[in-house]
Amino acid sequence: MAVAMLLVLPYLAHATFMPPHQEPLGFGKTGQEDAHILRRVKVVENSTVTVDDILGVAENFNLDVWQVRSSSVDVHLTSGTEPSFHHFLEGSGLAYTDSALPYSLVHPQSIRPQASAWNLSSLSNSTFHTDYRTIDEIGIFVKQLIDLHPDQARLVPIGHSSEHREMFALEITANRTSLKKKTGFVITGAQHAREWIATSTALFIAHALLADPSESYSMASLLNTFDFYLVLLPNPDGYVYTWETDRFWYKNRQVVGAKAKCVGIDMNRFGYKWKSKAQFPAKNKNKTGTDPCAPWFPGNRAWEAPEVNNIANYITTLPNLGAHIDLRSYGQMISSPFSFSCKRTPKDAEDQLEAALGASQALKAAHGTSFTTGSLCSLLYKAPGNIVDYMYARAGIKFSYAVHLRDTGTYGFVLPPEWIRPVGEETANMIKSLAGFIVGKKCAVTTN
Ligand SMILES: *[C@@H]1O[C@H](CO)[C@@H](O)[C@H](O)[C@H]1NC(C)=O
Ligand SMILES: *[C@@H]1O[C@H](CO)[C@@H](O)[C@H](O)[C@H]1NC(C)=O
Ligand SMILES: *[C@@H]1O[C@H](CO)[C@@H](O)[C@H](O)[C@H]1NC(C)=O
Ligand SMILES: *[C@@H]1O[C@H](CO)[C@@H](O)[C@H](O)[C@H]1NC(C)=O
Ligand SMILES: *[C@@H]1O[C@H](CO)[C@@H](O)[C@H](O)[C@H]1NC(C)=O
Repeated sequence: MAVAMLLVLPYLAHATFMPPHQEPLGFGKTGQEDAHILRRVKVVENSTVTVDDILGVAENFNLDVWQVRSSSVDVHLTSGTEPSFHHFLEGSGLAYTDSALPYSLVHPQSIRPQASAWNLSSLSNSTFHTDYRTIDEIGIFVKQLIDLHPDQARLVPIGHSSEHREMFALEITANRTSLKKKTGFVITGAQHAREWIATSTALFIAHALLADPSESYSMASLLNTFDFYLVLLPNPDGYVYTWETDRFWYKNRQVVGAKAKCVGIDMNRFGYKWKSKAQFPAKNKNKTGTDPCAPWFPGNRAWEAPEVNNIANYITTLPNLGAHIDLRSYGQMISSPFSFSCKRTPKDAEDQLEAALGASQALKAAHGTSFTTGSLCSLLYKAPGNIVDYMYARAGIKFSYAVHLRDTGTYGFVLPPEWIRPVGEETANMIKSLAGFIVGKKCAVTTN
């Protein structure tokens, strides 16, 4: 007999961030046509229903899967999609928890007040990091930063997106007075368009690298030993689409082939161990390839997405790279290679894991947030072509990580904007610790 458990989480842990008028939304009530929930289905050991079974059902119902772990699957449901999934769950005996996603987070204001009075001259006092930012606001932010720090920051064009937006990298280096050879550190923002916190965090890190060393969470001291290369918006077209049309869009916005009925390629499919088949949903039983309409459609061949080429081509021009962090959400994990295989272990695994462990402790020192560490395959699932594997195995970057930022599944991709600053701060600590490990000395991190 089915024992489905419905829990509407009242945001116990983070109640302070809930505006008082926003009750958690449920289904079946009147006037809630546009309710959104994040449902975590738990898979217990030896259960007759497996993660693959759930993914197969999700695929059949065309549901939006947000996270896949070995013991749970997170699915985003609306009042339109919930009933069919609920029916399946009732017959499955699987337990699940629901978290209601506040309307204002699912539908952020896209008409914005005239921006620019953020005053970027102080990291801690600036108002920039109080909210998610449109692509235009990000452009203004970057220009203001460069105006304030012309000797240390510059913009480098790296090519065009499939909708012909210019892509760029923000390079941050110390004043060019020292001839000492620096180690290159690459940071990429949200490849998957809906992972907004990844881009906000990349912006915070850029600001922290340029902040006066006397400020809390300033990362300026790292510029003595590192040059930073930040691709703040790896997927500009997808990002714009999440603001204008679909907050939960995942891929780029490429039209694939003349008669394609669907748009977009999963960006996180670089040309190392690339495969035409995704490993999920349901281990992708499709013999010919992955459905072009699926969020994880990898393209028809490796390197089909111009954005992916631009990033890889840019990386090859950079000297002496030592670290790469691919910022993502969500799940609170620092993951090292490999992604394509759970059986293969990199020869640098011991150093990679030790550095990640130290980085997770430094991160926790900021606001008490716990991150897990391990290989990407072991923490998530087997996925070919991941940027983390490419940067390690092809670009030769020894310390290559995917960092899934907050949270663990209450808000998922719609993390409240109040968390942008704390997430930026803890990530600054994490990067400082990693940088210290790489150069063989401890960097002081900020504790609260
Ligand atoms: C699952 O099955 C294995 C092998 O049959 C058994 O050793 C294990 O105790 C089972 N676990 C649970 C939680 O029942
Ligand atoms: C911006 O902040 C700096 C440092 O906090 C301050 O000195 C300056 O007056 C501020 N500028 C404006 C326009 O508010
Ligand atoms: C931030 O603002 C506070 C309060 O106005 C001020 O005391 C402090 O000096 C400012 N910090 C910076 C770095 O401008
Ligand atoms: C960089 O140079 C500028 C002007 O030459 C100077 O104002 C600034 O303090 C320098 N910054 C550092 C970190 O040395
Ligand atoms: C299988 O893959 C092919 C080629 O990408 C695609 O046209 C087809 O729709 C897919 N079928 C399913 C059921 O995903």
